[in-house]
Amino acid sequence: MRREITHASTRYSCFDSPRLIALSDRPMKEIHRARIQKALKSLKLENDSSALVLSSNPLCVRSRDTHYPYRQNSDLFYFTGSHHQELTLVLRPHANDKVILVAPIEDPIKRVWDGSQPSLKALARKLGATEMPSKDPMATVRSLLRGCTTTYLQSVANNLSARLRLELASRSAHTLRGLPTRVVEAEHLTARLRAMKDPSEIKKIMAAADLTSAALLHSVQYMRRGVRERELAVLIEYLYRLHGAEPSFNTIVASGKSAATLHYHALDKTLQNGELLLIDTGCELDMYACDVSRTIPIGPIKNPRLQEIYNAVLRAQAAAMRKIRPGVRVSEVHKAAAVELTRALKDLGVLRGSVSQLVAAGAYKPFFPHGIGHSLGIDVHDAAPEVGPGGMVLEKGMVITIEPGLYFNKPLRGIPACGVRIEDDILVTSRGAELLTDGVFPTDLNELAALME
Ligand code: GLY
Ligand code: MN
Repeated sequence: MRREITHASTRYSCFDSPRLIALSDRPMKEIHRARIQKALKSLKLENDSSALVLSSNPLCVRSRDTHYPYRQNSDLFYFTGSHHQELTLVLRPHANDKVILVAPIEDPIKRVWDGSQPSLKALARKLGATEMPSKDPMATVRSLLRGCTTTYLQSVANNLSARLRLELASRSAHTLRGLPTRVVEAEHLTARLRAMKDPSEIKKIMAAADLTSAALLHSVQYMRRGVRERELAVLIEYLYRLHGAEPSFNTIVASGKSAATLHYHALDKTLQNGELLLIDTGCELDMYACDVSRTIPIGPIKNPRLQEIYNAVLRAQAAAMRKIRPGVRVSEVHKAAAVELTRALKDLGVLRGSVSQLVAAGAYKPFFPHGIGHSLGIDVHDAAPEVGPGGMVLEKGMVITIEPGLYFNKPLRGIPACGVRIEDDILVTSRGAELLTDGVFPTDLNELAALME
């Protein structure tokens, strides 16, 4: 029976969670100032005079006179909290004006069409910065860098910092005339700071998790035979937007064999009884992302192999979670999940041999082809410190996803083409892992069946 999606009452009490309402207690002004001070300190550790330049993302043309929705550059937002679309932050620890904000003088014609940008003066006051409105922001930033030997610049396509990077790289040494000769990717500096979340950030991720969970729970009634994948995706995203958020990435709603495509976006199938439905989604609320996956049985699951696969992924997630603590490499967390999944693949008759040898040979990779997770924050795949051999080492304060999965892109040994992924977001604490997505609906198959009734 086909169910129509109605939007009569989406303001369910689950949308009014206290975590969603009380977003911030410590004034963001202090938080941004403290982040800038940390960056200045890191720059000072350089033994020459160095500077950091971060700029707003450019507005991207969608077609002729229309643009994609604007999103601020994540690094610039981290330090300023500003959505100004033409802002550049320059940090120069060796100079008198350490913190400088550069932006174009407002164009009255542009203001008629797009309205005003946030006040530069107010932002400068908030951050304890010097403001420099300019007719030519590129020239102003360039002049601020004279006398610096190293500059940390961005590589985001076409923002001011990235354009300056290209310009410096294309100049011959004798034409630099006091401009920096050494250019370093800004992320080398910003990623380390952003990887360790402060309490205000954890609160925001939790709020995003609450809204994601509320949207999923509200949508359960439509996870039924006859509903189209696209209907579910737009409903979930509608609920995010209704509550002031955005999807943190394009929502994946993949039923049956579609779920074997990791980032499935066709959304053109109709849900069938006896299939597994994989939903991978998350909202971005106040610039912080959530990212969860649930795999949900549609109607009774008659094929016991689907249940075995589901439970193996659940066990793999638990094994990975148990490994988490400061000092542990992400590769060890991945391996804990891979061992569980390999054991299940052996039990299903898909792999043969000793589990340890199969894991060492990566025999599971055709069925579990992705990593165990990723850093999460302002970006859904967030900045993370540089990885050496063996991958990132976990530290207290990091937020990461744990998302094992098993995928079969064609029928094999009685297993239909399908995909199962279970994903939650966790905070690394001194004792282990704290689940931030605890409100998202259950993962136990019996509890899921009860929820779907
Ligand atoms: N949630 C999609 C991904 O992590 O790639
Ligand atoms: Mn993810």
